[in-house]
Amino acid sequence: MKCSYCSKEGIADIYGKCYCEEHFNKYFLGRVRSIIDKFGIDGRIAVALSGGKDSAACFYALHSLNLELQPFYINLDIPDYSNACQKKAEELCNLLGYKLEVIELNEYGISLAKKKKPCSTCGTAKRYLMNKFAYENECKYVATGHNLSDVITFAFNNLANVNILNFRGNKPYLEGKEEYKMVAKIKPLYWLKDKECMLYAYINKLPYADEECPYAINAPTLKIKEWIHEIEGKQPGIMVNMAKSFWKLEDLMSRDINLNKCKKCGYASYGNICKFCKIRKR
Ligand code: AMP
Ligand code: FES
Ligand code: ZN
Ligand code: ZN
Repeated sequence: MKCSYCSKEGIADIYGKCYCEEHFNKYFLGRVRSIIDKFGIDGRIAVALSGGKDSAACFYALHSLNLELQPFYINLDIPDYSNACQKKAEELCNLLGYKLEVIELNEYGISLAKKKKPCSTCGTAKRYLMNKFAYENECKYVATGHNLSDVITFAFNNLANVNILNFRGNKPYLEGKEEYKMVAKIKPLYWLKDKECMLYAYINKLPYADEECPYAINAPTLKIKEWIHEIEGKQPGIMVNMAKSFWKLEDLMSRDINLNKCKKCGYASYGNICKFCKIRKR
């Protein structure tokens, strides 16, 4: 089929329109730019690279929009995985002319291999270290590669686990709070689905790792993601509407009232001691 905007061959069908490579790139950047413009993003952005397709796409899109970027990678020391991902993140940075900063989780005395629930520890550690890195490197924002598919999956997973009080992470922008050393968080790929991010990484020849984290191979969220994409296939656009609803819901149930400063490290915490310091102590 021909592109809906020019005479070239189409490579993607999105919400009833057909796109050639050039117009798909324009569409993709337009979706990212809409987030940047809506929240007036201006200033240094720490870009969290996982070595995967989404954060590669996120980084490349922000780079194409000429924003000021500082890429970083957290090495979680997962055998046969972490070093391979770091290599891809390094390749991408070399290609685009940046220096990748690397944070080593084991320097904090934490080993995921020794944890009963490595994914949960990993999530806490990543969130903490991303914020700390951005704060210490004078970045105004942390950008992650979370896309529309991730946001909806995460929200449904919370619903499925009666975790409604923890209903956070559904918005593309979370304000920073200087007194809690909390840097603002952005999800530039908020309006873009898994497949679109994959296609963007592919046509722009971005290096990324295909490996899945060995701890996450049977994660229940994978089934939820499949199910959501199935519904989207039958009713295109439903994921965008769901995201708008979850965004509104989160606004209605803001949890800032309970925010404290961790007694050990001084970063934000919902109790006296933050989750990261508790993990370190164990
Ligand atoms: P995940 O939590 O694996 O779904 O990843 C979501 C986003 O978090 C990615 O798109 C990255 O932006 C970021 N991220 C995940 N793992 C790492 C890592 N090891 N180092 C830095 N950023 C990461
Ligand atoms: Fe964190 Fe797999 S990447 S446990
Ligand atoms: Zn075209
Ligand atoms: Zn702490």
